[in-house]
Amino acid sequence: PSDIAAAVSRLEKVGISSPALYDTPALNVAGNPFDLFRANISKTLSEISGVEPDLIVPALEWTMTPDRGDLVIAIPRLRVKGKKPDELAAEWAEKYPSTPFLSKVAAKGPFMQFFFNPQLLYKTVIPEILKKDSTYGNSNIGAGKRVIVEFSSPNIAKPFHAGHLRSTIIGGFLSSLHERLGYEVIRINYLGDWGKQFGLLAIGFAKFGNEAELERDPINHLFKVYVTVSAAQAAEKDAGAAAETVLALKASLKKEGAEKADIETKLAEAEVKAKELAKIALDAVVVLDKGHPLKDEKNIDPVYFIPRPIDSEAKAYFKRMEDGDEDAISVWKRFRELSITKYTTTYERLNIHYTEYSGESQVSEASMQGVIDLLEQKGVLYEDRGAKLIDLAKYNKKLGKALIQKSDGTSLYLTRDLGAAIERYEKYKFDKMIYVVAAQQDLHLAQLFKMMELCGFPWAKDMVHVNFGMVQGMSTRRGTVVFLDTILEETKDAMHDVMKKNQAKYEQVENPEEVADLVGISAVMIQDMQSKRVNNYKFDWSRMLSFEGDTGPYLQYAHSRLCSVERRAEISHEQLMAADFSLLTEPIAEELIRTLAQYPDVLMNAHRNLEPSTVVSYLFKLTHIVSSCYNILWVAGQEPALATARMALYSSAREVLNSGMILLGLTPVERM
Ligand code: ARG
Repeated sequence: PSDIAAAVSRLEKVGISSPALYDTPALNVAGNPFDLFRANISKTLSEISGVEPDLIVPALEWTMTPDRGDLVIAIPRLRVKGKKPDELAAEWAEKYPSTPFLSKVAAKGPFMQFFFNPQLLYKTVIPEILKKDSTYGNSNIGAGKRVIVEFSSPNIAKPFHAGHLRSTIIGGFLSSLHERLGYEVIRINYLGDWGKQFGLLAIGFAKFGNEAELERDPINHLFKVYVTVSAAQAAEKDAGAAAETVLALKASLKKEGAEKADIETKLAEAEVKAKELAKIALDAVVVLDKGHPLKDEKNIDPVYFIPRPIDSEAKAYFKRMEDGDEDAISVWKRFRELSITKYTTTYERLNIHYTEYSGESQVSEASMQGVIDLLEQKGVLYEDRGAKLIDLAKYNKKLGKALIQKSDGTSLYLTRDLGAAIERYEKYKFDKMIYVVAAQQDLHLAQLFKMMELCGFPWAKDMVHVNFGMVQGMSTRRGTVVFLDTILEETKDAMHDVMKKNQAKYEQVENPEEVADLVGISAVMIQDMQSKRVNNYKFDWSRMLSFEGDTGPYLQYAHSRLCSVERRAEISHEQLMAADFSLLTEPIAEELIRTLAQYPDVLMNAHRNLEPSTVVSYLFKLTHIVSSCYNILWVAGQEPALATARMALYSSAREVLNSGMILLGLTPVERM
């Protein structure tokens, strides 16, 4: 049955026969109450005004406040010649027939305001929300379409920083949103798992890595190894540079006799410095390798540091990896696999799972070469001292020049992204591919997209960069290095502390640890998603953990309170479905049902702007109204019929809140 047929039969059940509904695929009349009203208003208004309904539908907009109606139309948008918009609005409002759909149609200057009949909303929206297996808010606009969402994408052996956290949270939301709108979603985690730092990491691990530690906590351990070996590498580099200065001065001493005295003083100073740095380097090396050839302190000769053993070993190791040496690769592979296993469990805490863990290492040489060849054929590449570049400034000044192949033939971050995009298209034939990456990489992604376009791929237009601003001051409570795991653990502990402050309530919670974890995670996630993505925000422990104000814990509290109202009322599902909604007469009840009716539209708006804040703001508006209802719409101690009608409204609110929270990636708690 078509959408219209389903809507018509549902309307007949509530006593509306042969409703006026404009039939257009642009509207989801069966699943979205606002679309049902759009279909009705556009048809009726078209008959009165002679304006095409297709023009009316997109002109019907949300109002800022409920006193301005549920939908409003700005008459100038209809482009009717002759009369003034104010006059038309007044005339059409006057002519508008009385209808069971609307309780009021008003003209206000050049606007027409439409007020939905709340009784019709109660009767259609509540059962729709409460029916078993409700999919309220879902739609099928994405049916048959496939979207790739690439998100999180941390770097192995490096910290999981705030940018990765934001990408994880926003990407998780965008994936779920697309799924609810009917898309098939492919979730990809594109790891930073390739580059010369893996040579350094491997030799660092060989020198002082620890098997048991690696197995227990690969992410932290590899990071520790990396930090230490990098420090040793840097110390050797400094010592080597100082030793080179000494040698250079010695050489010049032989040649020129004239300024000898001057050079001698410089040499003496340089030797002191070189020895100092050599000592530091030696200490760093001793930390990591007891068997280092320079370990004997008496032997310290700065000149030893000129070959910079760590640096050259690391380079040689990475070369072996690039050449496909199995032994070299197998070490790296283990690091990668252990890290993925660990990440997978951490992501689970955030309700996130991936279709595919890919990464820079997985991009084939052939696909990278393919893009380079293609760009070469299009005549857009040029060479500079053996390196291959592209001048994108021609198309857009901001894009500048981009390097895609180094003079030694090695690839770059950008080259790997070019190859990865093609591989993904070949594998998935996506209709849309979303990159959830920090705004710091705006240029990188703009270059990538432009180059795909220059290659002539028609799907280049389907690549979208969802960017976001920075988080200021995100550090753990104990230090500054941040891992996802650490942040989640610390939030849980902090939340637990906050909960313990209310002793009486705390004692009633059965599983405080688990609740603290879920509520803590909500705190981090809501703080991240409550304002527009591009905004930077300050990571604020005390604000985000508070139960007051617009926070994650507040949403959890609102949800658990609704659950408790439900538990105490003990009214069956069947009774709720058969409630007599004519008993709901209070303005606050009306405000609540009008807000619940907006939910499917909210998801559509979020689909348009790809902003989690659209959903978050809506949930805060909803919970604020619910909280005002508690003073007026009592359930306990009321006549059964009245209690049932009110409970049906509360249960609907709980369903929508629950659905919105899950969409955002939270796990709603039932008691706290
Ligand atoms: N690993 C990168 C980083 O941490 C982010 C990857 C973003 N995605 C991409 N396709 N380039 O900066």
